[in-house]
Amino acid sequence: MEPRSLILDMDVGVDDSLAMLYLAGRPGVRITAVGSVHGNVEASLAAQNGRRVLELCGLDDVPVAVGCWRPMAQELATAGWVHGDDGLGNTNQPDPRRGPTREHAVAQLIRLAHERPGEYDVVATGPLTNLGTALVMDRDLPRLIRSVTLMGGSFDGVGNAAPFGEANIWHDPEAAELVFNAGWPVTMVGLDVTMETRLEEPELEAIAAADTPQARFATAILQHYLGVYARSFGGRRICPLHDPLAAGVAVEPSLVMSSADVEVHVARAEGPTRGMTMVDRRPKYMEAEGRSGPFTRVALRVDSRRFVDQLVGVLTHPLPAPAAAA
Ligand code: RIB
Ligand code: CA
Repeated sequence: MEPRSLILDMDVGVDDSLAMLYLAGRPGVRITAVGSVHGNVEASLAAQNGRRVLELCGLDDVPVAVGCWRPMAQELATAGWVHGDDGLGNTNQPDPRRGPTREHAVAQLIRLAHERPGEYDVVATGPLTNLGTALVMDRDLPRLIRSVTLMGGSFDGVGNAAPFGEANIWHDPEAAELVFNAGWPVTMVGLDVTMETRLEEPELEAIAAADTPQARFATAILQHYLGVYARSFGGRRICPLHDPLAAGVAVEPSLVMSSADVEVHVARAEGPTRGMTMVDRRPKYMEAEGRSGPFTRVALRVDSRRFVDQLVGVLTHPLPAPAAAA
């Protein structure tokens, strides 16, 4: 079977890195290109981190393009307190061997989409500024991209960066509104499922005991992140798997055990709800009342056990030889 070809769009911090490692280790997956975006860290540093992770996986040839450095309509805000100032838990990783491409991440996304219409699945695990900008630049994009799976938002409107704002949506609400309503197939993997899909003590011990480069890297970069999440989990050093789960759902949709196809909008008015995902929960028959989509597939329940086992398997076993580039 032809591998699935992915374009990744990431604010490469700790969990984005785990998502990349997961994808590098899954069969039938080809990472074609990566675009970086502001969010956990600045976009240029996110690109460097992307290169670091790819090189660790032997994926030196995968291009990484620097993307949008700031949100569309608000100031840049980064999250060093969660991911470390370097985005990798302040672990002082060696410089990558190669730099980013000269192309901008938005240009890269548009170019690839036109070169191979309908072939690429996009996995977005940061603020959606690159995707939103690409939509503003190219009206054809939605019909050229096979699917978009994003980590962001929540079905019930609960946030993490703000009371009602999940970080990726809250960092650029205007871009997120464009992405949810462009008419391309979007799957939203939000806090409802990512907070319930975790690395807990047994998995962390298995990863720490494994003698693979990716397990050593994961163990190192997780330490700071586990300290941050310990405050949410009563002192337990465990963590949710936000971005890795979105990556998992992108390449293995059967991980989703229940979902809802609903209209999603993003609150953009100034005030406490800015960045909140608002889900139209009315039943389908209300379409007659003007509810016409586009609809987003929102994951409501996932097979967390199967996913966590897959992730631990990838981290603790040798990575496969990279699939040929395309
Ligand atoms: O809310 C979780 C998201 O915010 C993840 O993508 C994480 O990397 C941070 O960016
Ligand atoms: Ca992220």
